[in-house]
Amino acid sequence: MSTDTVKHEQWSSRMSYMLAATGAAVGLGNIWKFPYIMGENGGGAFVLVYFACILLIGIPVMMSEVLIGKVGRQAPARSARLVSQQSGGSGKWSIVGWFGSLTGFLILSFYVVIAGWALAYTYYGFNGMFTDQTAVQIDSLFRGLNASGAELMAWSGAVVLTTTLVVGLGVKDGLERSVNWMMPALFVLLLVMVGYASQHGDMPAALKFMFNADFSKLSWNGVLVALGHAFFTLSLASGIMTMYGAYLPAGTSLVKTSIYIAVMDTVVAILAGIAIYPIVFANGLEPGAGPGLIFQTLPIAFGSMPGGQIFGGLFFLMLVVAALTSALALIESSVAWLVENRGFKRMQAAVVSGAVIWLLSLTTVFSISGAEWTKITLFGNETTMFGILDFTTSNIMLPVGGLLTALFVGYVVKRSVTEQAIDSSAAIYTFWRVCVRYVAPIAIVLVFLQLSGLVSF
Ligand code: TRP
Repeated sequence: MSTDTVKHEQWSSRMSYMLAATGAAVGLGNIWKFPYIMGENGGGAFVLVYFACILLIGIPVMMSEVLIGKVGRQAPARSARLVSQQSGGSGKWSIVGWFGSLTGFLILSFYVVIAGWALAYTYYGFNGMFTDQTAVQIDSLFRGLNASGAELMAWSGAVVLTTTLVVGLGVKDGLERSVNWMMPALFVLLLVMVGYASQHGDMPAALKFMFNADFSKLSWNGVLVALGHAFFTLSLASGIMTMYGAYLPAGTSLVKTSIYIAVMDTVVAILAGIAIYPIVFANGLEPGAGPGLIFQTLPIAFGSMPGGQIFGGLFFLMLVVAALTSALALIESSVAWLVENRGFKRMQAAVVSGAVIWLLSLTTVFSISGAEWTKITLFGNETTMFGILDFTTSNIMLPVGGLLTALFVGYVVKRSVTEQAIDSSAAIYTFWRVCVRYVAPIAIVLVFLQLSGLVSF
């Protein structure tokens, strides 16, 4: 195996890194998923558990992943191997990197399809296709889109193509330039939507729902969902943070940037809830509507609200932007790997990665359009390949990947290496170390045991 390393580009500033990494974290998870899983799992109580997961597990694991990249300076698997060997550990720890990249790839394969929905809805919204539609008509719009494999393929293909071209242009010319305007645009759009919801929605009902902790509605499964979502929303255990960490300019604080990213990500998720729920309540819609909340429920409201054509379009545009900045991050790690290991040129590598993602996305496309070959019965439940992908990645692969990362950085990597990379006060270092050595592994294992029925609390 060759040990020579490819020299990488670096972010031109700390700001660029933070925008790109925040963009990687903020995505459909914040705007599409967080509001509906919160709705399904008891609102405020779920939010509290989720905050605890972010603080005690999410931030420490994010620091660990960025650390691997910052020390190794390669695509995730190679970085993890180098860091391990440097500490006298086994090269097999490269699993921390490649398992993450594999998870990220699988996530991206359905992520681009949801992003494709958002793109289609941006078009529908601006074209006035929600205006004065009844719930039944909105529902048939959604069904119509989903019944057609070809349409889904085209919308998600457009998402993949955009991502591929941007990443192909390089770290500075592609990624940086695009996030430099996409992230501010995303924030402006979000604030506009919050303003719109406070004008035309039922804000008190929304705030009560989101922040009133009703623990009777929270199950152990809800705790697992919160844990899995902490990983999902921060783009952990997907190879992404390690990849972006590899381009970190020297002297950038791991602690400060990770906290900043996690805080921004959480703020966006909460604001998304504050933009969506007032509209849901004011229009008598169902808050626990699940994955269809945004696509099946919200357009009904936009269709009857003042300025709904513009704001409906803008809402879905915001979703597209959020999804693109996350998709970029993932394609970057496979591009970097192909360039480092297979001698590809960047654009070639981007096109190959994009094509693979698009082909993989077809399993989700055909699951949604109802093709027979995607239907599977598991433990007596009927599901689809998309259902299995979503469940396995979010609820199994992400926590397992996080567990491996915590164990690797907490026990295998030498203390001197982590101390130097984290470069912070003794108290913060100790807090981090306790979290990765004890809190995160124990919490992850307990939640798994509880769910598998081996222990019960
Ligand atoms: N963090 C992203 C979001 O909240 C989701 C995500 C996690 C992701 N891992 C990923 C997206 C890998 C693409 C690829 O939306």
